[in-house]
Amino acid sequence: MHGAVTPQPTSFESDLAAVVRTPSGSYPVWVGWDILGSLGARTQEIMGPDAAFVIGDSGARGHALRALESLRSAGIRSEMLLIDGGELTKTLDGARRIYHWLADLKAERGHLVAAVGGGVVGDVAGFAAATYVRGMPFAQVPTTLLSMLDASIGGKMAVDLPHGKNLVGAFHQPRFVLSDVSTLDSLPARQLTAGWAEGIKHALIRDEGLLTRFEAQRAAIRSIDPEVTTGVIRRSAAVKADIVSADEKETLGVRDLLNYGHTIAHALEAVTGYTALLHPEAVSIGMMGAGRISSEMGLLGGHELERQRALLESYGLPLSYRGMDVSAVMETMRSDKKVRGGAIHWVLLEGIGNAVSRMEVPSEVVRSALRHLAQ
Ligand SMILES: NC(=O)c1ccc[n+]([C@@H]2O[C@H](COP(=O)([O-])OP(=O)(O)OC[C@H]3O[C@@H](n4cnc5c(N)ncnc54)[C@H](O)[C@@H]3O)[C@@H](O)[C@H]2O)c1
Ligand SMILES: [Zn+2]
Repeated sequence: MHGAVTPQPTSFESDLAAVVRTPSGSYPVWVGWDILGSLGARTQEIMGPDAAFVIGDSGARGHALRALESLRSAGIRSEMLLIDGGELTKTLDGARRIYHWLADLKAERGHLVAAVGGGVVGDVAGFAAATYVRGMPFAQVPTTLLSMLDASIGGKMAVDLPHGKNLVGAFHQPRFVLSDVSTLDSLPARQLTAGWAEGIKHALIRDEGLLTRFEAQRAAIRSIDPEVTTGVIRRSAAVKADIVSADEKETLGVRDLLNYGHTIAHALEAVTGYTALLHPEAVSIGMMGAGRISSEMGLLGGHELERQRALLESYGLPLSYRGMDVSAVMETMRSDKKVRGGAIHWVLLEGIGNAVSRMEVPSEVVRSALRHLAQ
């Protein structure tokens, strides 16, 4: 499950969570405690660029400055642009600002763009890196839990349009991912709590052992214990890395499995105007819906569904959305981009740790699961 070797010999193996191997290239995902200061040395080892352009998250300014300092200390000419996190930044205007800055500073194709921040900064900086001069090397230095577990791995880069989220984008794999778990110390509590939903999702779809760890070590994990929390993020990141390696561009039916809970989550987010819930909170609710459908379809035992419910609840995650407009959610799911030939593409659990795809779920089963979520 874990990558055993890096693409090149490296002195940073103890932090290695996985190696993503795709037709577009292989890269290490490092997850460690207090490793931001080694960014420059790692960058030198991976590619030794003449210059680096840091896109820093203004909400993680101190961490971004440390990243910049590390690159400079390693002898790499480096500049930084601070941009705001939050979905409002993830637009073509946000990308344009980065293009102009790169052009002003005469960035070239051999230079590095490094995103230091949350998923928003990672997405918009990665999209800019994918497109400026037809593609610059890119590095992900995530500082939110969601980004460490999910957004920084896999090379899906996008910005939003008024018509919908992530509509304009590209696949652009990073040269490496460096997650310094100690940067989570400054993350607001709600962001931290929510982020665990995607980590628990990885366990539910692929790794029962990880689920057991989430159960047994909850207190230490949630209080950001240097060893325990780093360990579960490392393993959860490895699940995502493995899935991306098996199906880089979501064409083989493997990467889709990461969408467990997301069919309902995306619809619920849209119906509630993207303001009521953080994305992983909607995913937690969506997983309860998908879990119930799995159970109704005879794929998941009642005790297994209860195990999922109890774990999500114990991490402080929402399990329902009282008053949810069931018909509006149904309608929005039908118009989702994942719908092919009129049928909704469901990711369900056939037992804990084993996600499967199903197209043929009777709409009465779906409606009944949604009604439970609305209570
Ligand atoms: N590319 C992908 O595969 C992928 C996967 C999942 C999510 N995403 C995207 O990720 C985005 C959400 O990412 P997010 O949840 O990280 O939100 P975010 O990037 O908006 O960050 C949340 C907030 O935390 C602040 N912040 C960042 N690091 C911090 C730190 N260490 N301490 C204190 N504050 C900090 C940010 O400034 C922001 O205000 C969405 O746009 C989503 O579409 C992308
Ligand atoms: Zn998600």
